[in-house]
Amino acid sequence: MTVTPTAPLSQAALLIELEPVVADNLDRHLRLAKEWFPHEYVPWSEGRTFDGILDGEAWTSEHSSVPEVARTALVVNLLTEDNLPSYHHQIASLFGRDGAWGTWVHRWTAEEGRHGTAIRDYLTVTRAVDPVALERARMTHMSAGYANAHDDEVLHSLAYVSFQELATRISHRNTGRVTGDPRCEQLLTRIAADENLHMVFYRNLLGAAFELAPSQAMRAVADVVADFQMPGNGIEGFARKSVTMALAGIYDLRQHRDDVLLPVLRQWDVWNVTGLDADGEAAREQVAAQLDGLDRAAARFEERRDARQARRAGA
Ligand SMILES: [Fe+2]
Ligand SMILES: [Fe+2]
Repeated sequence: MTVTPTAPLSQAALLIELEPVVADNLDRHLRLAKEWFPHEYVPWSEGRTFDGILDGEAWTSEHSSVPEVARTALVVNLLTEDNLPSYHHQIASLFGRDGAWGTWVHRWTAEEGRHGTAIRDYLTVTRAVDPVALERARMTHMSAGYANAHDDEVLHSLAYVSFQELATRISHRNTGRVTGDPRCEQLLTRIAADENLHMVFYRNLLGAAFELAPSQAMRAVADVVADFQMPGNGIEGFARKSVTMALAGIYDLRQHRDDVLLPVLRQWDVWNVTGLDADGEAAREQVAAQLDGLDRAAARFEERRDARQARRAGA
């Protein structure tokens, strides 16, 4: 079958064509999203005044029994939520602030803001992490700002956030599990449910883009899969922290490939998309090659992790 290549849609045309899909999915989101209140998740009566201005008790690591790896993950996840002004700037600049796109951008920002508020209140009241180190890390991280690799391309950004929201969901869920604190887990599970709805919103939009401009959508997916970085990758010491989290099974390459990339790609039915031009076909092959490469890298990591655990068990 000969496919007649059509001219690529401009960024403006993509935004206009996708607007009705945004409106539908915004309605869906508002129907499904449950209202919840950060203050209800925080055990305020356990809080104590800190040292400094009010001359309370200085923080020490013995104040909480949350394991070190969970503290690392909580800080990474909170700093990731904290960088919201940069994310808002990115998506508001790209998607605009008018119509259904604008309504979504603002709603999404408000929901993400709730996540940072809730986690910070929880960590401060329960003394799970050093509040001084946390505040300094927040200043450093936010001062650096955030820019994603394809910030001027609508479909690349939609592909990125589809994966990123699911990645964040998994990271929150698994972090909750390793805290060993059922109340913290309850909060992070609540946040993870929001991240899942965000993922569905973006995934549906890119799904519609696959029908509208299949080759452009496939190119976007291939580029994003090739250089995916978690939004918190600018956090000081991120490489070390992310290895710690991977070793604890909070977020590792296997989860990234099997639990984030694959289910989303399956929803887009990327292997059966028709009407691709030469670049679209090449992009699909690149996605397949990336998945193979990730499979090998994940297997190597798992071998090293198993060997490390075996050494520790024998030590
Ligand atoms: Fe969030
Ligand atoms: Fe989210």
